[in-house]
Amino acid sequence: MHVVVTGGTGLIGARLTQQLRDRGDEVTIVSRTPGGPDTLVWDPLTPGSLELPTDTDAVIHLAGAPIHGCRWTDEYKQQILESREEGTRTVVEAIRDHGDVDHLVSASAVGYYGDRGDAPITETTDPADDFLATVCRRWEDQARRLADDDALAHDPAIARTGVVLSSEDGALTEMLNPFGPIKPFHWGLGGRLGDGQQWFPWIHIDDEVAALIDLLDERRSGAYNLTAPEPVRNERLTDALGDELGRPTPFPIPRFAMQLLYGEAAQLLFASQRVLPRRLTDDGFGFEHRTVEEAIADLLPR
Ligand SMILES: NC(=O)c1ccc[n+]([C@@H]2O[C@H](COP(=O)([O-])OP(=O)(O)OC[C@H]3O[C@@H](n4cnc5c(N)ncnc54)[C@H](OP(=O)(O)O)[C@@H]3O)[C@@H](O)[C@H]2O)c1
Repeated sequence: MHVVVTGGTGLIGARLTQQLRDRGDEVTIVSRTPGGPDTLVWDPLTPGSLELPTDTDAVIHLAGAPIHGCRWTDEYKQQILESREEGTRTVVEAIRDHGDVDHLVSASAVGYYGDRGDAPITETTDPADDFLATVCRRWEDQARRLADDDALAHDPAIARTGVVLSSEDGALTEMLNPFGPIKPFHWGLGGRLGDGQQWFPWIHIDDEVAALIDLLDERRSGAYNLTAPEPVRNERLTDALGDELGRPTPFPIPRFAMQLLYGEAAQLLFASQRVLPRRLTDDGFGFEHRTVEEAIADLLPR
């Protein structure tokens, strides 16, 4: 299969690309910067800037400006939104122009659901209306346009991803190092965020990539939550990190400290999202990492 991956240079995309190539698929990466013979350069904000190879079978669309680990200024929020809404529009136009692509797997995020307290969240839960939920809705709407006009052999799959845990980058490295060079967990100064009762919709990077490949191979359609089957409260995550590092975690990190650092983006750390991967479970998807303790033990060398 020839798979085109936008954002194939990122945390998820690099691992995904490697796995697809390892099993014998041909992969073309779509990037904003040149990167060798298997890379196509595009400008996500310019429709027509992406021309898919003639033998493309499927597209996995992951590109977008980073959401985590940065301050959301008004200008940056615009970039988060535009890179996804306009970027997906550009991908959709490229698929239409090509005319013979079989399938699209398009990224989204559990930010779609907003802050839901203790209520379980499945794919049928309504969207919220905060900034991130609006981004996710508009991002997904662009991909769904392909279903409206039957431009693909199979309607697109939407991957509503939780917080990806990886040893290389992303949320786990940010959690261990939330104040720049100061590493509170390593010094025994780490602690839960606020009262630690908020639900954390995590997923191990290996399961994230396996689930994307499942959506691709099985030609699945519609929204799928890509999260571990056992979401945990922030306090359990904090205990798991402390235990694995062999450090106590006695000091709660107050919300105002994170707001000072990240501004509105601090909402990502305090929103409570008890997300369940109902559709993956119903389809019989086999998670390799089901508990957060086991996932962290796998990712963090003691
Ligand atoms: N990681 C998570 O925990 C998580 C959670 C929920 C949802 N997601 C979503 O899943 C997708 C992949 O996540 P990831 O963690 O692999 O992301 P990532 O590491 O930030 O990589 C995303 C890729 O998008 C491209 N990109 C960066 N800024 C861009 C911009 N302004 N416009 C267009 N493209 C841009 C970059 O590729 P080039 O520089 O090569 O162009 C980058 O490699 C993202 O859309 C993300 O929002 C991730």
